[in-house]
Amino acid sequence: MSKKGRVFSGARPTGRQHLGNYLGAIKNYVALQEDYDCVYCIVDVHALTTVETTENLKQNTMEMALDWLAAGIRPEESILFVQSQVPQVMELHTYLSMVTQLGKLTDLPTFKEKVRQQPDNVNYGLLGYPVLMTADIVLYKTDIVPVGIDQAPHIEFAREIVRSFNFRYNTKVLIEPQVKHTEVPKVLGIDGKEKMSKSLNNHIELAATPEETKKRVLEMVTDPARIKRSDPGNPDVCNVFTMHKIFSPQSDVDMVNVECRRAGIGCVECKTLYARNLNKHLEPFRAKRAELASQPDLVSDVLNDGAKRARAIADKTMAEVREAMQLP
Ligand code: TRP
Repeated sequence: MSKKGRVFSGARPTGRQHLGNYLGAIKNYVALQEDYDCVYCIVDVHALTTVETTENLKQNTMEMALDWLAAGIRPEESILFVQSQVPQVMELHTYLSMVTQLGKLTDLPTFKEKVRQQPDNVNYGLLGYPVLMTADIVLYKTDIVPVGIDQAPHIEFAREIVRSFNFRYNTKVLIEPQVKHTEVPKVLGIDGKEKMSKSLNNHIELAATPEETKKRVLEMVTDPARIKRSDPGNPDVCNVFTMHKIFSPQSDVDMVNVECRRAGIGCVECKTLYARNLNKHLEPFRAKRAELASQPDLVSDVLNDGAKRARAIADKTMAEVREAMQLP
């Protein structure tokens, strides 16, 4: 391995990706390819813990993979695959479950939150969610896991499971992963209040048309204290300004910063400018996406090839694991 080590990350198949997904994860996944050997997984098995039907699962998986590829995941270098296509992870999950204490699983804040969110569907899979996640990570001898801050307890937990396994079987086959926090701006939705998310329908899709994008941007909530066009605004509390700082040229950022404060520019004008800059930024992504989408089997070929390469690593790890456990 010529690179610095292996990176693994996973995300649930949520379909078309939005700006929050891009800034919070994908952009970082793309950048990490420079220095690491990267494995990126669409975790459809994890998704089964919460979805009521698998009807859209495949479609969501394909759309998400297409967005990741268009954004710059390079399948010749990195492994991009779907979790259920590497069943070895389910076997490892079972072995790891035997060194995981039930009380620790029921104590996890993420589990408690799910129990609150879906009291009528507190399934066994939900409880094992972090164990399966650990299996994902360690199956590929991962060194580093880039995740958002909300997933940090899961990585800490994975480290504990690895220690328990290695201790119980007096081995070193499993590697304790390091967490790498993705330092990202908090991306709020068009409501200007909640984190951008598909379920809240406050998102802007990367693959939206320029017209749709502009329409969504014009719905964005700005400084609530600015009611009339003649009121001076405060960019420091305005989500549109936050986004200008990410997607607009410095000259526009400086202009908005000055003109908003003295009501020299109105919110509609400011948002129109942001929409234009955002569309310009997304233009190469959209062109690439269209080009990839025009090749009928491209995404499934990439995912099948990724799964094949993932299975080769997984088989090797599982042979070591079984040997360490002295299984017959
Ligand atoms: N639990 C993660 C999430 O909800 C997804 C995930 C599954 C994951 N397996 C992983 C993330 C392994 C990092 C590593 O976002």
